[in-house]
Amino acid sequence: MSRELEPARIVRLEEGDDPRVVLLDQRRLPEEEVDVSCRSAAEVAAAIRDMVVRGAPAIGIAAAYGLGLAALRGEDIAEAERVLAASRPTAVNLPWALAQLRDDPTPARARGLHDDEVDRCRRMATHAAELVGRRPLTHCNAGGLATGGYGSAVGALRVAWERGLVERVLVDETRPLLQGARLTAWELEQLGIPHAVIADSAAAAMMAAGEVDSVVTGADRIAANGDTANKIGTYSLAVLAHHHRIPLYVVAPTSTVDLATPTGAAIPIEERDPGEITQRFAARNPAFDVTPAELIAAIVTEHGVHRPPFVQTLAA
Ligand code: MRU
Repeated sequence: MSRELEPARIVRLEEGDDPRVVLLDQRRLPEEEVDVSCRSAAEVAAAIRDMVVRGAPAIGIAAAYGLGLAALRGEDIAEAERVLAASRPTAVNLPWALAQLRDDPTPARARGLHDDEVDRCRRMATHAAELVGRRPLTHCNAGGLATGGYGSAVGALRVAWERGLVERVLVDETRPLLQGARLTAWELEQLGIPHAVIADSAAAAMMAAGEVDSVVTGADRIAANGDTANKIGTYSLAVLAHHHRIPLYVVAPTSTVDLATPTGAAIPIEERDPGEITQRFAARNPAFDVTPAELIAAIVTEHGVHRPPFVQTLAA
């Protein structure tokens, strides 16, 4: 039986005597479903930084609720916005969401933004579902957890599954924080979609064996020319897919498209604590990479399927 993740289960704002933003703690999934309550904008910012909530649209939504919370608690709104904006650098959804609330930093506006983001995912999923083929491979988690409900890349897989177009999904485990092995696999299990988790390093061999029809991912920031920042390892997959003549599709809402950033070279890439890689040795931990536009077959937003040249089709 399929179980849907309710948007309010992932992130919500509770009003009343003790207003708070309540987040499903994604660090503890799939072992435990535990909530974290934030009672200030600074606590919401810390939860975004520590990845209690993660995924580009979801951190934008959480930041919007953080501003709504700051208004309810009488905090300095400009300071709340500054602290939230500084929590993570790569996903453009975060500054985008804060800008959306600048003239109206209220709980009602934050809820409206959350509803709109979920609606965008439902719309883009119907466009992307026809592209993915019978045996897609996905990376990281671009599901309901990452988007505040429904999912972008996983949304496309859901619709494709409902239409009988998909046989099974390969899920990259997504080192070092295992968003694929922990979160995407959990969501696909809840939805009853057949899947198999693979080591990130197994993707090339699976492609060579003819077991992958497409690569389908979300995005954290899409530059005006189509260069796309997403979870570290997406670029490697794009190179592999190109070699094996397999299409790579990016599925993301327009809140992830940043026309003010001309190319991927200008996208800030977060480098996280090396302790997430190894506690024992020196390490480097870039959390995202940039896939050049020429390796992307299509970018799918709520408006439809955008093909190259993206500098024209995204702007349109
Ligand atoms: O570091 P994370 O887990 O926040 O990274 C998330 C991703 O890279 C997702 O693929 C991206 O945000 C798209 S989510 C719809």
